[in-house]
Amino acid sequence: MIYHLFLFSFIYIFNNIHAVNVHYPAIFIPGDGGSQIWARLNRTLPPPHFFCSRHSNWFELWLDIRLILPEVIDCFVDNMRLTYNETTKKTSNLEGVETQIPGFGGTSTVEYFDSSGFPYSSYFAPIVRSLVTLGYTRGVNLRGAPYDFRRGLDEQDEFFANFTQLVKDTYELNNQTQVVLVTHSMGGPFALYWLHQQTSEFKAKYIRSMINIAAPWGGAIKALRLMISGDNIDVYIVSPIRVRPYQRSAPSTAFVMPSVNFWDKDEIVVVSPQRNYTVNDYEALFNDIKFPTGYAYWMNNKDLLNELKPPEIEVHELYGSHIPTPGVLLYDNRTFPDLQPIVLPDDGDGTVNIRSLLGFKNWENKQKQDIHSLEIPGVEHLAILKHPTTINYVTQVLTGQFDKK
Ligand SMILES: *[C@@H]1O[C@H](CO)[C@@H](O)[C@H](O)[C@H]1NC(C)=O
Ligand SMILES: *[C@@H]1O[C@H](CO)[C@@H](O)[C@H](O)[C@H]1NC(C)=O
Ligand SMILES: *[C@@H]1O[C@H](CO)[C@@H](O)[C@H](O)[C@H]1NC(C)=O
Ligand SMILES: *[C@@H]1O[C@H](CO)[C@@H](O)[C@H](O)[C@H]1NC(C)=O
Ligand SMILES: *[C@@H]1O[C@H](CO)[C@@H](O)[C@H](O)[C@H]1NC(C)=O
Ligand SMILES: *[C@@H]1O[C@H](CO)[C@@H](O)[C@H](O)[C@H]1NC(C)=O
Repeated sequence: MIYHLFLFSFIYIFNNIHAVNVHYPAIFIPGDGGSQIWARLNRTLPPPHFFCSRHSNWFELWLDIRLILPEVIDCFVDNMRLTYNETTKKTSNLEGVETQIPGFGGTSTVEYFDSSGFPYSSYFAPIVRSLVTLGYTRGVNLRGAPYDFRRGLDEQDEFFANFTQLVKDTYELNNQTQVVLVTHSMGGPFALYWLHQQTSEFKAKYIRSMINIAAPWGGAIKALRLMISGDNIDVYIVSPIRVRPYQRSAPSTAFVMPSVNFWDKDEIVVVSPQRNYTVNDYEALFNDIKFPTGYAYWMNNKDLLNELKPPEIEVHELYGSHIPTPGVLLYDNRTFPDLQPIVLPDDGDGTVNIRSLLGFKNWENKQKQDIHSLEIPGVEHLAILKHPTTINYVTQVLTGQFDKK
């Protein structure tokens, strides 16, 4: 009898948790590097080393950390990099490299960078896990929208069409409940671009609000460093010059370069022995580093998103601050452009400059929907995704507790 009572109350509590907590469904939109990329090789051109595979079945290219170990990394970079066709203005994989972005609609490929699930490779996992313990279900009211993050906004039409369908499907699957968009980093500007294409009727019907975590509304100086001399891949220590061919080849790197709306026209962002560059000198900068394709990427993307235009839905902005973040890049004769610059620090989250994180302030008084924001001082760009304050905030919004405040 006691046993039955116990069981009964357990079931009751469980159902109650479920009924009380699950409110709005969520769709997670990752940032640069936050989706998995699978590849299949049938290469005709010789790879960089004799030991690089030429032929393969489908395998996880981004990101299997074993592929970015010294030596093997050159094979990895060569399979990740894109080539640009100046006539069509489109990028493609190298000949004989086929890629796909698995897991659209589910969360598994946006929860971890590396599918082995090592804790240090976790991405949206801590947020997703907390929601699951509250009664949320992966694939039903927790959805993911992974995409080919190497590409800029100019090459994402198919992704955005799929995304629109995912929003509608998620709404229907959850008894016609409005959806909350949860973005990290570059996922924020991508979502804003998509929102600008939707009618106010569509947004009112399908979207409850958007939570942007560490969104670079005005770009980041760090992207310039990637373009000029390469950079580590987030937490992974790799040789910048060896990953640079991939980083340069990705139009998304150009998309997140500092915006002319956020940096002053005489503000120096890069110093080289020959000249100083502002955000209006990108053409000269790319010519000087002998990578004019980077400027073409910038031109193809720079006017697609008006980041000063509000999304016209309720928004929540979470961002870290007070972490040294690249501010000005100082190169000398020895370092320009192949070695790492001396970096003058700026305020920010370690990756994104504070002025860019605060870009949502441009929307104030331009939309009738509320804009909420929360600064989390001392929290880094990626670490913010597992910070208890972030997890709690996202939970409050999704469970509808925030609405009651
Ligand atoms: C690999 O490419 C070659 C020619 O480039 C082609 O003949 C062959 O069928 C391809 N193999 C597969 C498995 O697609
Ligand atoms: C670029 O695209 C055009 C048009 O499809 C094609 O004719 C040309 O061969 C391509 N160039 C390269 C270098 O692949
Ligand atoms: C869009 O959805 C279709 C159908 O599910 C899929 O084949 C395609 O790969 C998706 N494309 C992108 C870019 O997500
Ligand atoms: C779906 O919504 C209707 C109307 O709001 C409600 O009566 C019904 O109980 C809901 N069903 C579920 C499964 O939540
Ligand atoms: C770059 O700017 C610095 C600081 O304003 C100045 O001292 C330097 O002369 C400039 N260098 C060139 C090459 O214009
Ligand atoms: C750096 O290069 C400039 C221009 O080529 C030259 O004038 C200058 O002397 C060089 N400085 C050093 C320290 O080599």
